[in-house]
Amino acid sequence: MTIKKVAVIGSGIMGSGIAQVAAQAGYDVVMIDLKQEFIDRGINIIKESLGKFTKKKKITQDDADEIVARIHTSTNMKDAVGDVDYVIEAVFERANVKLPIFEQLEEACPERVIFASNTSGIPVSLLSSATKRPDKVIGLHFINPVPVMRSIETIKTLVTSEETLKITLDFAASLGKKTVVVKDSPGFVVNRISAIVINEGAKLLEEGLATLEDIDELMRLSLNWPMGPFQLADLVGIDVSVDLLEQIYQQTGWERYKPTPLLKRMREVGHIGRKSGKGFYEWA
Ligand code: CAA
Repeated sequence: MTIKKVAVIGSGIMGSGIAQVAAQAGYDVVMIDLKQEFIDRGINIIKESLGKFTKKKKITQDDADEIVARIHTSTNMKDAVGDVDYVIEAVFERANVKLPIFEQLEEACPERVIFASNTSGIPVSLLSSATKRPDKVIGLHFINPVPVMRSIETIKTLVTSEETLKITLDFAASLGKKTVVVKDSPGFVVNRISAIVINEGAKLLEEGLATLEDIDELMRLSLNWPMGPFQLADLVGIDVSVDLLEQIYQQTGWERYKPTPLLKRMREVGHIGRKSGKGFYEWA
């Protein structure tokens, strides 16, 4: 199967990043969201990112314009997915938000179309149960910031077909990303580890072991990480981190994934990281 047109459902940080890398790889893209204002924000994120590439002369302004021109948008999912070859769902990380989308996609897309989910922790099998084509449902977990990070986790369920896997691996490679196939298990691989880093960082802070700036600096310098746990939490989002920890905790009962109270309180007051202007740090 040849993929020409890709639908990305969701235009947030992840959805817009995925739409961008697909368009950069030459695919026609339709980025879909509920409201035009969400889409406009997504297109701005894409333009900002492309601006960084043009500033560094990694691409020309003409390239950037062509990439943006390849990204069509829609607020009507049913109409927009009728002629696509591959769908990537990247909406809010809640099963009760994602499941109805998979049900609607099932109705609106031709039978040949593969559905990939950018879920960071919801079982892909659960999402596939909302469709009549579970063999064509797969996880494609992109990493934030998508235009820069070099990997994608590909999640194969018990019933994902070999053909779906092959098409997906070829697609991921065409985006210039390295893919690792992992089992459909809570948090997969990347978030089994990153969620612990964020939770443990918050516990250290609660215990008053050191300041957050010092903990971040220590981890950057000691392990050569690009970011410490609190910078990472602000990038990922405290809301996303708590959801993720809760999902893994609920599915496994492992105490180490129980979100620490500090993270929960921060989510409650809206200190959820870069996107809200305040998380562990203040963001302009
Ligand atoms: N688009 C295009 N280019 C970008 C960019 C974007 N969105 N963000 C950063 N860049 C570019 C910069 O222009 C810069 O380019 P040059 O090297 O050519 O100068 C380069 O990336 C580095 O950026 P900065 O100098 O601004 O800052 P930095 O050195 O701190 O790098 C970073 C930024 C790439 C984000 C780096 O800090 C990093 O790798 N952080 C770790 C990110 C991480 O761990 N992500 C995983 C989150 S977990 C997740 O995503 C899973 C989940 O489901 C929750």
